[in-house]
Amino acid sequence: MRIRTERIQKDLDAINAFNGTPGKGVTRFTFSKEHQGALSYVVEELRRIGVKCTFALGGNLRGRVDGSDPSGPAVMMGSHLDTVGEGGRFDGTAGVAAALEAARIIKEEALFHRLPIDLVVFAEEEGGRFGWGLLGSSAWTGRITADQLAKIRDREGAGYGEAMEKAGVKIQDSTLLHRDNLKAMLELHIEQGRILESRNAAVGIVEAIAGIKQVIVTIEGSADHAGTTPMDLRRDAMQGAARIIAAVETVARQEGEGGVATVGQVFCEPGQANVIPGLVRFSVDVRHSDESRLRAMAAGVAHVAENVSKARNLQCRIEVKAEAEPVEMTPGICGLIETIARKKGVEPVRMASGAGHDTGIIAKICDAGMIFVPSRGGRSHCAEEFTEVEDIALGAEILLDTVLALAR
Ligand code: GLV
Ligand code: MN
Ligand code: MN
Repeated sequence: MRIRTERIQKDLDAINAFNGTPGKGVTRFTFSKEHQGALSYVVEELRRIGVKCTFALGGNLRGRVDGSDPSGPAVMMGSHLDTVGEGGRFDGTAGVAAALEAARIIKEEALFHRLPIDLVVFAEEEGGRFGWGLLGSSAWTGRITADQLAKIRDREGAGYGEAMEKAGVKIQDSTLLHRDNLKAMLELHIEQGRILESRNAAVGIVEAIAGIKQVIVTIEGSADHAGTTPMDLRRDAMQGAARIIAAVETVARQEGEGGVATVGQVFCEPGQANVIPGLVRFSVDVRHSDESRLRAMAAGVAHVAENVSKARNLQCRIEVKAEAEPVEMTPGICGLIETIARKKGVEPVRMASGAGHDTGIIAKICDAGMIFVPSRGGRSHCAEEFTEVEDIALGAEILLDTVLALAR
C-alpha cells in the first residue's frame, strides 16, 4: 500500500483539534474560527508538497495538482470540514484526509496524470450554520445564484458573504463549475449506516444518493393565559404542531422501506410554562431515492399540516428550505472503483446513500462516484461516530487509483 495510514491519523487528529465543543463531539461550523483553522491546516499541508490553494465561488477551497495538460478539465476529489453541532470526527473529515494523503502520494511519487487533479473542501455541506446544506457545491455549480446566497443568514443574522469575509475568505476564482472544466468528482465518505459492518465489508460503492426535501412549517395560533383560557376556546399552536409531527412518521412509513422523515428542530413562542404557545415552527426533512415518492412524502406532510390547522383554526405556512433530487452515480465510475478494489483483494458492496453529499450536486454536471468506508455501529452526526483509520487508508488507496485512472 502506498497510502500512509499514520499520516491520515495525524491529519484527522490535527483537523479535529479545531473544535468548538471539546469533550462534546466536534463542532466546526462553516467560516467559524475552528473551520478556518482546519482549512489553514489543509492549505499548509498542500503548500508543503507544492500545491497552491485558492478559494472558489461559494467559499470552497481548491488545491490544484497540475498534470501534463493544465488546460484540460479537472478530476476532483475531496469532501467537507464543517460539521453538525456536536457531531463526529469523520463525517467529511475522513474524505478530506484521504484526498490529502492521495495528493501527497501523487506529488511525492510524481505519478503521471494528464488532467489536473483538484483537492476540494466544500463549504457548508451540513447546513449547521446557515440551516441549509450543500450550499458550497450549490453555489459553485450555479444551482443557487450569488444573490440567493447573499440572502442566506445564520441564527445571529450574519449573511453568508459577510461571514465569509469576516473569516478572511476571499474568492480568488469566480468561475462556475461546468462540463467543460470538470471531468469527474470522487468523494470518500464514511457510510453513516450499518450495511458494511453487517456484511463484514471494508468498502462500499455508492450507486445512488437519496433525494431530500427540507421544509419549515410554521403554525400560528394565539398566545393566551394557560390558567384562564378554557380548552375549547384555545388556538394552541403546540397542540396542532404535535399532531402534524406525529403524522410525519406515518407519512414516511407509507412509502415503504426507502422513505425516511425527521422533525429535528422545534421552536415555540413565547416558550413559557404558563402561556399557551402562539407560534410553533419546526423543520421536516423527508428523503427517498425515488423522486415521485419523495414528492408524495412532501405533499403528504403539507396535506396533514393544512388539515390539522384548518380543524383547529390555526394558520399554517410551509417554506421549502432545501431540495436535492435523488441522483445516480456514474455506472462507469462505479465499475472502475469495483475493478480497482478487487485488484486490491477487496470485494466492495454496492449501496445507496441515505445521507446527502456534495458529490450528488456535482453529479448533475459531470461523472461522479463515491467510496464508502464502514461506520462503527452505523453511528453518525454524534460524538460516537467512529471509523478505523485502516479502513480510511484502504479507501484512500482505492480513491488514489481511481482518480489517477480518470486523470490519465
Ligand atoms: C448531511 O449529512 C445530510 O445528509 O443531511
Ligand atoms: Mn458528510
Ligand atoms: Mn453529515
